[in-house]
Amino acid sequence: MNLLNNKNILLGICGGIAAYKTPDLVRKLKAAGANVRVVLTESGKAFVSPLSLQAVSANPVSEDLLDPAAEAAMGHIELAKWADMVLIAPATANFMAKLSHGLADDLLSTLCLATAAPITIAPAMNQQMWHAIPTQQNLQTLKQRNIRVLGPAEGEQACGDIGAGRMFEPEQLVDALNQRMVEPVLAGKRILITAGPTQEAIDPVRYLSNHSSGKMGYALAQAAADLGARVCLVSGPTHIVAPAGCDVIQVKSAEQMYQAVMEHVADCDIFIGCAAVADYRVDEVMSQKIKKDNDKLSLTFVKNPDILASVAALPKPPFTLGFAAETQHVDQYAQGKLHNKKLNMIAANDVSDQSIGFNSNQNALTVYWADGQQCLPKNDKYTLACQLLTLLNQHHNNA
Ligand code: C5P
Repeated sequence: MNLLNNKNILLGICGGIAAYKTPDLVRKLKAAGANVRVVLTESGKAFVSPLSLQAVSANPVSEDLLDPAAEAAMGHIELAKWADMVLIAPATANFMAKLSHGLADDLLSTLCLATAAPITIAPAMNQQMWHAIPTQQNLQTLKQRNIRVLGPAEGEQACGDIGAGRMFEPEQLVDALNQRMVEPVLAGKRILITAGPTQEAIDPVRYLSNHSSGKMGYALAQAAADLGARVCLVSGPTHIVAPAGCDVIQVKSAEQMYQAVMEHVADCDIFIGCAAVADYRVDEVMSQKIKKDNDKLSLTFVKNPDILASVAALPKPPFTLGFAAETQHVDQYAQGKLHNKKLNMIAANDVSDQSIGFNSNQNALTVYWADGQQCLPKNDKYTLACQLLTLLNQHHNNA
């Protein structure tokens, strides 16, 4: 479905070499049916000409905050209100810094403060600049403010470096924007999601855990919120920023996760168990640090509660979706869990494939339900989350 049709996209172009791709980006946005107005920063003008952008967008290009003629035609507040979405591509390190600090010292930064439309940025810069601590801190601030970040991609850079910092290609940007112009199909639904690993204490300084990054669960929380749901995310320890617009409950152990879920499950219509919950915990957590006095050390484990199965076994369970991360016999194990845990649906992925699953930004899923299955081929975790939620929603509506 083309959700960009008739949408007003304000495209901000900053001064980076990737700006040379923006006339093509404008053409592709127009081809998708969007109305495009371009705002060019002072340094952006050094890389791409206003005349080219005016020709492809079929609209005058705005460059200056203090230009009386431009203000008389369409003032900056009017332009900010006109936009259904703001896309900044390329977004330089400098612009990200300005945006994160709320500066309004040129037309584009002022528009970003003056608009109520969602803002998406497509960063592009040298890989060292991308990894620099100030840029990464600004990135976290922007994400916390629900500013969407597309990319950057990795690869060869104009300066000769290789690494993260290439702007997403115009086609990728248009696809991503299209997916994010979503219809609120989950409006009115309350979704409880578990994500991330759990940490099981051994003594005051040590714990057992697993390689789950939490990315899939966080992508689901973000996508569910974007699709209009009220989301409560119960998360084990992760290094990623929680999606804006969701209630987040941070926990460490499986028992804490169980408690948090049981406290909130009565308020949800749909439960998604995406966390990699530790199956066992240490029977007796030492109150003092274990010393290395002995050559051998034995620990006794006891089973943790199965959160997902407990939710599905409630007298009035929500619609339940589980995950099955397997290294072999994926179909067989996933279908076994669907049946044994009495779930409505299960999404299985093969974590032995290094290019997907744990800690990767991509995943591929096969979703099973009582009398059917569907493959969701390899994609970034946010896109996959949208596809999975759309499928889940169809089944929830028919349940
Ligand atoms: O049995 P297995 O751990 O493979 O099942 C995976 C599914 O069960 C996941 O959805 C996971 O979040 C959930 N689970 C749980 N509580 C546990 C173990 C797994 O909710 N103790």
